[in-house]
Amino acid sequence: MSTVLAGYGLVKKYGSTTALAGVDVEVRGRDSLAIMGPSGSGKSTLLHTLAGIIRPDGGQVLLRGERLDNLGENRLSALRRKRFGFVFQFGQLLPELPAEENVALPLMLEGMARRQAVVRARRWFAPLGLDGLEQRRPGQLSGGQAQRVAIARALAVEPDVVFADEPTGALDQRTSTEVIQLLTSATRDTGAALVMVTHDADVAAHCDRVLQVRDGRISNYSQFTVA
Ligand SMILES: Nc1ncnc2c1ncn2[C@@H]1O[C@H](COP(=O)(O)OP(=O)(O)OP(=O)(O)O)[C@@H](O)[C@H]1O
Ligand SMILES: [Mg+2]
Repeated sequence: MSTVLAGYGLVKKYGSTTALAGVDVEVRGRDSLAIMGPSGSGKSTLLHTLAGIIRPDGGQVLLRGERLDNLGENRLSALRRKRFGFVFQFGQLLPELPAEENVALPLMLEGMARRQAVVRARRWFAPLGLDGLEQRRPGQLSGGQAQRVAIARALAVEPDVVFADEPTGALDQRTSTEVIQLLTSATRDTGAALVMVTHDADVAAHCDRVLQVRDGRISNYSQFTVA
């Protein structure tokens, strides 16, 4: 499988703080990569830089060989909407919209008519164990259910890469295991790559590879053999 997303020599500074001190990373299609490391080591900065949310001060980010780090803001945000999906710790669903419309929203932003987008969105509910919850608002869902709706929303645009920052951070151990299994398997099924930040070694163990970040550098890279 060829490289989908790559960062080379990534540097990011905030004043006198060096959040990224020259990071190289490559992600292939269907590959899942967990980013681990102490608080403040640069994990979120790395994820946001790879996702084109933060612009690096040095180095390059390439999506299928095309540079992102020097694209204009409009092209970059259009590309993020179309090619990337995002799952965060919490607070990403719009509270006033039913679950199915939350999932349909990225498709509508891409220009799909509301009806068609909702029909497409509904297809994700059964595979993610959300059957019957289409009309619930986020406040009427459990934390694990809300995260599964967020996964559906990230995958609905059929992205090249799904980015997740502590996707299970607000969940108990058992729910966290269920959510991470669904996130990794559903992402792999669509052919997308997954880049995920987590503090939880059990969660990271569901990924193909684990990258350890320390003081803005990669301190270790390990490869799991996924059965
Ligand atoms: N917007 C910002 N302005 C100034 N400094 C920042 C900013 N964002 C991050 N930093 C600093 O950059 C470093 C890396 O931050 P980052 O958020 O990437 O860490 P992290 O590994 O995700 O930590 P955590 O596990 O606590 O989420 C930290 O020293 C942080 O204080
Ligand atoms: Mg972080």
